[in-house]
Amino acid sequence: MGAYEETFRKSLEDPEGFWAEAARDIDWHKEWDAVLDRSKPPLYRWFSGGEMNTCYNAVDRHVENGRGDQTAIIHDSPVTGTVRKITYRELQEQVATFAGALRGQGINRGDTVIIYMPMIPEAAVAMLACARLGAVHSVVFGGFAAHELAIRIDHARPKAIIIASGAIEGKKTLAYKPLVDDAISQSDHQPEKCIVFQRDFVTAELQAGRDLSWTDIVREAEPVDCVPVKATDPLYILYTSGTTGMPKGVMRDNGGHAVALKWSMKNIYNVNPGDVYWAASDVGWVVGHSYIVYAPLLHGCTTIIYEGKPIGTPDAGAFWRVINQHKVKVLFTAPTAFRAIKKEDPHGQLRKQYDLSDFQTLFLAGERLDPDTYHWAGRLLQVPVIDHWWQTETAWAIVANPMGIEEFPVKAGSPTKPVPGYDVRVLDHAGKEVGPGVEGNIVVKLPLPPGTLATLWRNDDRFVSSYMKTFPGYYETSDGGYIDEDGYVYVMGRMDDVINIAGHRLSTGAMEEVIATHQDVAECAVFGTDDEVKGQKPIGLIVLKAGVARDEQEIKNELVQMVRHQIGPIACYRETAVVKRLPKTRSGKILRGTMRSIAAGKEYRMPSTIDDPTILDEITRDLKTLGYPE
Ligand code: COA
Ligand code: AMP
Repeated sequence: MGAYEETFRKSLEDPEGFWAEAARDIDWHKEWDAVLDRSKPPLYRWFSGGEMNTCYNAVDRHVENGRGDQTAIIHDSPVTGTVRKITYRELQEQVATFAGALRGQGINRGDTVIIYMPMIPEAAVAMLACARLGAVHSVVFGGFAAHELAIRIDHARPKAIIIASGAIEGKKTLAYKPLVDDAISQSDHQPEKCIVFQRDFVTAELQAGRDLSWTDIVREAEPVDCVPVKATDPLYILYTSGTTGMPKGVMRDNGGHAVALKWSMKNIYNVNPGDVYWAASDVGWVVGHSYIVYAPLLHGCTTIIYEGKPIGTPDAGAFWRVINQHKVKVLFTAPTAFRAIKKEDPHGQLRKQYDLSDFQTLFLAGERLDPDTYHWAGRLLQVPVIDHWWQTETAWAIVANPMGIEEFPVKAGSPTKPVPGYDVRVLDHAGKEVGPGVEGNIVVKLPLPPGTLATLWRNDDRFVSSYMKTFPGYYETSDGGYIDEDGYVYVMGRMDDVINIAGHRLSTGAMEEVIATHQDVAECAVFGTDDEVKGQKPIGLIVLKAGVARDEQEIKNELVQMVRHQIGPIACYRETAVVKRLPKTRSGKILRGTMRSIAAGKEYRMPSTIDDPTILDEITRDLKTLGYPE
């Protein structure tokens, strides 16, 4: 039996034994009573009764164990032209003092805090300081508009919101404070404090009474120790797009999360403490939570916080420069980044300027890795290119090539095999398991391994109905795909209304909710179509209300602005077609899948439930006017 098979089998046959062993790599204040509490399925709790602190495990214990002088964080910021290094000892001082400052503002164990910050070390310091106190953070990605931030403020009900005065996004300087003020004015819940980290290129105006300067409160603060919390206590809430405008607040616990993430660093990524590990993503996404902040620090690595883009900061050689300058061993990013680089520098000329001899492996995730990009990246970098599949919900990989256990030959188009802990199956719509090569719903047999979502924040019912109801006994991933005869999993795409734009997860349902509020729109449908660089992009079809005689282009421009203003620029909503009717089933369900196929120029089967098949000819004509299929 190979190393993978042995590990995988053990993880499924004896999950308690397997994860109890992995948990020895985490320092506990109090050992757990039960490795896995199975008393309330489908709600499972890992390490119940155990007590620990995630910040202690990510920071303090490394200082105590002799890593104090090792660099913990490298802030590489081509947009501000700076590189800053922070050792584990300095990180401990900064986190402990900022935690003291938060406590001084009345923030304690169990309180929620929203963090809205760009890619600066202070974002990680704020997250770790919350973890230190047992407060629950919720980081919101900077590309979301005020309205989206307001939705999260109302749901998370934070006592405080921690922000930076602004960011540099590519070549634009963005002021965050006006947007945050707008969000707070839109929300019913009012955070008591807004703590602002002022950056030197944009100064935020502070509102007396509510707003505080980060530097001022830190100056007056005393460092505080880590507060032991229950393993099952929440570490963070991360909102992610579902099928409606109300995002899902994924709740992550402390103990299981620390155990799984620490385990993943060696077993999946094959890195060791002391190695330089770089996830080129954003702290606002799950990749940023897991692989910029928590996992590399739990493992004693050096992590890079990169404030730049793969192209344009200053050029398509930016990634090679960072790998070379900081001796990066593993890079993790989204395929979009490589497609963007390939478009700018198709022959990889810029790569030749850098010695990348320390570089060991490229990991890609966040969206489907198309075989072209896979082959291009491999030829360019001459290192293994490893696709792995996971979701905000899981926090770490469900399917991967486990480089630290056993390296499998790659099959382009497949993220390889289920990771130990995940019992991955493919079911048909009736819930029956299908054979090799047959496409269906990818599910994971319960219980899920540690680290995966414990529930949805303050909404166990939505947790159960979203993930556990369609296929009782399984977690529904909402991705479709198949497993081949060698056990390789192929992930073909979402089965719901979630799309992936540049590796960012967005909801077409949320865009529809915005568009539907336009005064001239009677009905609308938004669906995703292919995009050469960003993987997918949204297209909207609208039916105008009877009697509307306005210029259609004007209406379309207004819709672009509405989505931008209410969801954010990252929705990349730009294209709308005005149609007479939308194709629907007899029961009134809009046939988005069929429209997706028409726009992509793919063959489709006429849905047997369609109300009026002639509409599809009209839609085909209307999409042609937009240039689809391309
Ligand atoms: N704050 C504010 N605005 C942001 C933002 C942020 N953090 N991130 C993106 N935006 C804005 C952009 O400025 C852009 O606005 P515009 O319409 O005014 O130009 C819009 O949102 C779309 O951004 P993006 O999709 O990033 O497109 P881009 O053209 O600026 O860059 C890529 C294209 C491919 C370079 C970029 O998408 C990229 O680096 N992708 C890698 C993806 C990644 O790391 N994903 C994380 C998951 S692992
Ligand atoms: P997010 O929650 O933002 O991480 O997005 C999760 C979704 O991204 C998954 O449900 C998939 O649809 C998609 N995804 C992530 N990684 C991959 C991958 N390696 N291959 C195919 N799809 C992926």
